[in-house]
Amino acid sequence: MKNQKQILAMEPEVISMDKNDLKKRESEAIFQTYGRQDVVLTHGAGALVWDLDGKEYLDFVAGIAVNNVGHCHPEVVMAIKSQAEKLIHTSNLYYTENQVLLAEELKKLTGMKRAYFCNSGAESVEAALKLTRRATGKSMIVAAERAFHGRTLGALGATYKSAYREPFRPLNEATFVPYNDVEALKNAVTGETGAVILEPVQGEAGVYVPDQGYLKAARQICDDAKCLLIFDEVQTGFGRTGKWFAKEHSGVQPDMITLAKAIAGGLPMGVMLACESVSEAFQKGDHGSTFAGGPLISAAALATIGVIKKEKLVERSMENGAYLRKELEKLHPRAVRGQGLIVGLDLDADCNLLVGKALAKGALINSTGEHTIRLIPPLVVTKEQIDKVVNIIGESI
Ligand SMILES: Cc1ncc(COP(=O)(O)O)c(C=O)c1O
Repeated sequence: MKNQKQILAMEPEVISMDKNDLKKRESEAIFQTYGRQDVVLTHGAGALVWDLDGKEYLDFVAGIAVNNVGHCHPEVVMAIKSQAEKLIHTSNLYYTENQVLLAEELKKLTGMKRAYFCNSGAESVEAALKLTRRATGKSMIVAAERAFHGRTLGALGATYKSAYREPFRPLNEATFVPYNDVEALKNAVTGETGAVILEPVQGEAGVYVPDQGYLKAARQICDDAKCLLIFDEVQTGFGRTGKWFAKEHSGVQPDMITLAKAIAGGLPMGVMLACESVSEAFQKGDHGSTFAGGPLISAAALATIGVIKKEKLVERSMENGAYLRKELEKLHPRAVRGQGLIVGLDLDADCNLLVGKALAKGALINSTGEHTIRLIPPLVVTKEQIDKVVNIIGESI
């Protein structure tokens, strides 16, 4: 297996197409649903990726908060290789060991009772919404303004941006309330509400951290109204905010938690975990998925969790996140938000232009709006790498 030094010394990857050919063929062969940056990536290691010409980039997008252990972490690669030689897929018609080991690990990490595996963040939200109906018999959902919970038809109903929802109506649309506003939440939750769904830190919105006490108040409101509380930690899970899960900053335990993104080191997996009473509401046949929690992806997830523990990435996220925010505040004192290594920065500049400029200078960053950039690097990022990207952002502004 290649180590990091060998990867750094690698020749540019040779692929069968040149960049323009690839872009043209992409436009002809693939649905045009994505706005892509003008770069073809070929390999990666840690917080670095390289393009077709061998140009190096510091990756402060991390596959949108997926590559928490860095690109191609040797232990994750090893786990995938060795499991791939034994058993890749079986379906859930049969028992496999890795799925059980992973569920037990996730139970310990989250304090939940049972896991339901799926393949993406949106699917984990779908599972939570279906379980809400099963457990409460109610379909009304309260969600937050600016919330992002995914693009499948159920999850889309709880996603705030009307441009995403409008073309696909009718949906089961949530009642939306301003995030971080206890009174608004209290007024919106009624006896008809099945669940309140919240991101403990809003990610796609541009990184909004609620006031201390907001999530606790949400818990109380749900208890009083006898409805369920779902925390969507698809983006904030697995050390991203400087805790294993962002809920730990508040000390609040939800009834369900949705996870995906970083869980399996870059392979697609989602999981919804629920507390005991709620988890019992799903009966045999109520929900399912062919690929969910297969032996290969579960092996990758177990290895990923092992790396997060061994390399103390949760603690590093807390420390380096504080460092990143401090350095960014030197550029713009009042425009920085975040928790651990999920950081938002508001700028007067056109952030789409800024993303392009940073790319040219060797940094992958991402804008969540016209005037906001979001930095979500791998948790293995070093202070030196942070310095370089902050410099690039400074120059690009
Ligand atoms: C909080 C949250 N929930 C759900 C999703 C949807 O996840 P996926 O893109 O894996 O379907 C996202 C994706 O960004 C997210 O940030």
